[in-house]
Amino acid sequence: MTPYPTAVGSNTTATIARYGLTESSLRLLGKLFKSGRIRPAAPRRTMDAKPKGPRWWHGATLYQIYVRSWRDTNSDGYGDLPGVIAGLDYLQWLGVDAIWLSPTMPSPDEDWGYDVSDYLGVHPDLGTLADMDKLIAEARQRGIKIVLDLVPNHTSSAHAWFTDARSGRESAHRGYYVWADPVKREGEAGGGPPNNWRDAIGEPAWTMDDASGQYYLHNYLPSQPDLNWWDPRVHEEFRDIIRFWFDRGVAGYRIDVAHGLYKDALLRDNPPLIGGGRLDGGFGLRPVYSSHRPDTHGVYRDWRKIADGYSPQRLLLGETWMGDLGVLASYYGQNDELDLAFNLPFVFAEFNSGALAGVVDETLAKLPAGASPVWTASNHDISRFPTRWGGGDERKARLALLVLATLPGTTTFYYGDEIAMTDVAVPRELRRDRMSPGVGTEGRDAERTPMQWDASPSAGFTAEGVTPWLPLGDNAHRNVAAQRDDPRSTLCLVRDLLSGTDETFFQTVSARGSYTAAELLWGHKFTNIFLPPTADGIVRIDLRLIDGTEPAILPEIAPKS
Ligand code: NOJ
Ligand code: CA
Repeated sequence: MTPYPTAVGSNTTATIARYGLTESSLRLLGKLFKSGRIRPAAPRRTMDAKPKGPRWWHGATLYQIYVRSWRDTNSDGYGDLPGVIAGLDYLQWLGVDAIWLSPTMPSPDEDWGYDVSDYLGVHPDLGTLADMDKLIAEARQRGIKIVLDLVPNHTSSAHAWFTDARSGRESAHRGYYVWADPVKREGEAGGGPPNNWRDAIGEPAWTMDDASGQYYLHNYLPSQPDLNWWDPRVHEEFRDIIRFWFDRGVAGYRIDVAHGLYKDALLRDNPPLIGGGRLDGGFGLRPVYSSHRPDTHGVYRDWRKIADGYSPQRLLLGETWMGDLGVLASYYGQNDELDLAFNLPFVFAEFNSGALAGVVDETLAKLPAGASPVWTASNHDISRFPTRWGGGDERKARLALLVLATLPGTTTFYYGDEIAMTDVAVPRELRRDRMSPGVGTEGRDAERTPMQWDASPSAGFTAEGVTPWLPLGDNAHRNVAAQRDDPRSTLCLVRDLLSGTDETFFQTVSARGSYTAAELLWGHKFTNIFLPPTADGIVRIDLRLIDGTEPAILPEIAPKS
């Protein structure tokens, strides 16, 4: 049984009659939206089973803000929390339900906040605890929730726990991290790392601590030592941390490397990666023993009890980096672990009907009943979809946005998606990300450039004359101000899709008069071919690019009924 009784999608059956999406078919589509057979985003999607009652993220739109790139209010070239506050009216207008903030805690920024040195504070570049409290309150007034990024897999080497841990084998916090004696292998002089694990840049995942003569583990940079989740005190620390922010009104966490917490107690070698892609391993190894350990599930069952004890229930959204959708589903447990688990197979699917439909079908089939899938197409680690899927063609970006907004479950947009912001080719000398060589891309900076608010030389991101921390993209070409004034823009399309209720969406569209359905997607270059419900009640939308220069793109979104 799938969690959703209805379906949105297309099929390839040429025998089914097709309708161009004219005004009349739009009305028909509107009726179907109203009937609940197909649904746009916002409070539009409901669950067929609600074992614990409705949760605010079911059918919601989350919006990821990479804080350093959103809006700079003190002219230091970095976006900050007051800048997030300044953008709240915009996000309310857009119709988002919650904001996921990229890391906000103090950090030496070897990995831009994913190396936390204090879990209970706010990074001074971004603001103060008072700014965070103000943001939570101001957002709440606008009906928007704040979700923080939590990094439980590792800390910064500058964290006080690690400073103490490396002060000696007997130190109080030694057991918070993963230490191992050198292992002597044939042909090696003084012994080497205990196993073959590699870190995120392809180097050995073990660094020798000369003072104590032991290695410590780091699955990311050497300045990001992995925590040892076999130590119960680490559990206690994180229970306190998650309560600390929940008590301040934070609505949930995006959990970094959610699949990674426990490591094999015997530190066995990872097996070779045979076949498989980027989601299955790296550097020739399958991370069987360095991540996805069964004990990790217990952590989320524990946290879930804490999160469910709050009103409204707090969200646990995992960064679950894996290629197997069955394993992904296992992180939902029996609806008693993560509330949402990011779907990377969807992100990395080819932008065509078969690939997308395959992932959607399988996801819906595998999640436990009543669970919500979560769909996203871009984030701060992955090339933006208008580039990756769309090659910069805004028509394709609009198509992808329509797909994202109408898929059942929860949608997460990355800042700038709504104006079809593309990746920016950042010259090597301006790059700020140290981990990119390991993630096998041109560089993650490409998708982290400042928000394009307007066409001015600073893009409205910072004060005129200030050099932003990363270079600007083509803000003259795509920016919020211009698109807000144009009812046919991509921004207004997204806003309509998120506009609250199904009815509002169609009223808005109808009220536009000349704003025909084809124009809704892209002038007259898109046609949206709507297929009537089949005998089993499944409705399919077949979105097709018809300008004659591109092959048809048919995102099929047809969960099994
Ligand atoms: C995943 C985060 O999204 C990424 O930016 C970071 O580098 C790694 N986890 C390590 O924390
Ligand atoms: Ca700033």
